[in-house]
Amino acid sequence: MTHHLPPDFLAKSLRRDVLAGLGSTPKTLPPKWFYDQRGSELFERITLLEEYYPTRAEREALELHAADIAAAAPADTLMELGSGSSRKTPLLLDALAAAGPLRRYVAVDVSDSALIAARESLAELYPALELQAVAADFEHQMHLLPHEGRRMVAFLGGTIGNFEPDARHEFLRSIRGYLGPGEGTLLIGADLVKPPSVLIPAYDDAEGVTAEFNRNVLRVLNAELGADFDVDAFEHVAVWNEREEWIEMRLRATHPLHVTLPAVDLEVDFAAGEDLRTEISAKFRPEGFAAELAEAGFGVVGQWTDGAGRFALTLAEPR
Ligand code: AVJ
Repeated sequence: MTHHLPPDFLAKSLRRDVLAGLGSTPKTLPPKWFYDQRGSELFERITLLEEYYPTRAEREALELHAADIAAAAPADTLMELGSGSSRKTPLLLDALAAAGPLRRYVAVDVSDSALIAARESLAELYPALELQAVAADFEHQMHLLPHEGRRMVAFLGGTIGNFEPDARHEFLRSIRGYLGPGEGTLLIGADLVKPPSVLIPAYDDAEGVTAEFNRNVLRVLNAELGADFDVDAFEHVAVWNEREEWIEMRLRATHPLHVTLPAVDLEVDFAAGEDLRTEISAKFRPEGFAAELAEAGFGVVGQWTDGAGRFALTLAEPR
C-alpha cells in the first residue's frame, strides 16, 4: 500500500473542520465524518432501503452500459477515487477486460481498512490483475497518484454531490491537472434532479436509518474530540433546496444546548430549533453536468443512465 496521508491527517482535518464548521453561522459539518465503523455500517443499511434508490440505480446503469463505456474508453488501468468497499468495481473491471488488455486496478481512499478489505476481495476475483492501494486524500492529492498506463479514473456513488459548486469545480480542475489529453478518461456517477416526493424519502426513510446515520456524526465528535453532544436532543431533517437543486441534511436542536468540545478547546451553544447542516447531496441535470465538465477542461464522450433515468454515468476526456 502506498501512503500519502500524513500520520495525523484524519485527526488534524477533523479538528480543522469542526472548528471552522461549528464556529460559523449557520453551523455546518462536512459529511465525510459520518463514516466511522458504525456510520459505514449505517450507510450500507441505507443502500438497502426501499426509499434509497441511488445505489441500485447506479448499479443498474453500470450493468446496462459498462460494455459501451469500456468500448468508448480503452484503458489498461482502472483507478477508483473513494473506492470504499469497491462493490461495483467488478462491473467496470469485467467490461474493461472484455474491451482490451486490462493490467491494473488502483484504489484510492483515505481509509486503510476499506483499502485492505477491497484488495482482499478483488485479489480473489482477479488473480492476474495488478492491485494497487493508495491511501490519499483525492481532494488535495491528485498530483501524487500514479501516472502509469492509460487510465479510466472513476468517481462513483454520487459522492460528487457532496461538493459545493466552487469546490466541485476545483476538484474537477485538479483531476484535469492530473490527467492530460490522451492519458485516459474520467467516469463520474451523479444522481439526477427528480421530484421532491422521491428525493425527500430517500434521505428521510420510514425506518429512521438515515436519521441514525445523520446523528452518528455527533457520536463521532463525542468519541474523537471528547465532546458532550446529547445525540438524542437532535432531530433529523432532510430538505430539498429548490434553488440550489440539492438535498440538505440537518440536525435540529430540539431544545437549547451548551456543548463542550475539549480536544479543540471549543464551546458552542444551540438555540432551540437551530440547525446544524451535515450534508449537501446535489442532484444534477445531464446538460448542466456536461457544461461543468467543459469548464474544467473536459469534453463529454457519453452519458448513460439506469432504465428509469434516475442516475447518470458521465464519461469525459481531457481536451
Ligand atoms: C454517499 C454521498 C452518495 O448523498 O446520497 C445517503 C450519502 N446521505 N443518505 C448521498 C447519503 C444520506 C450519499 N453519498
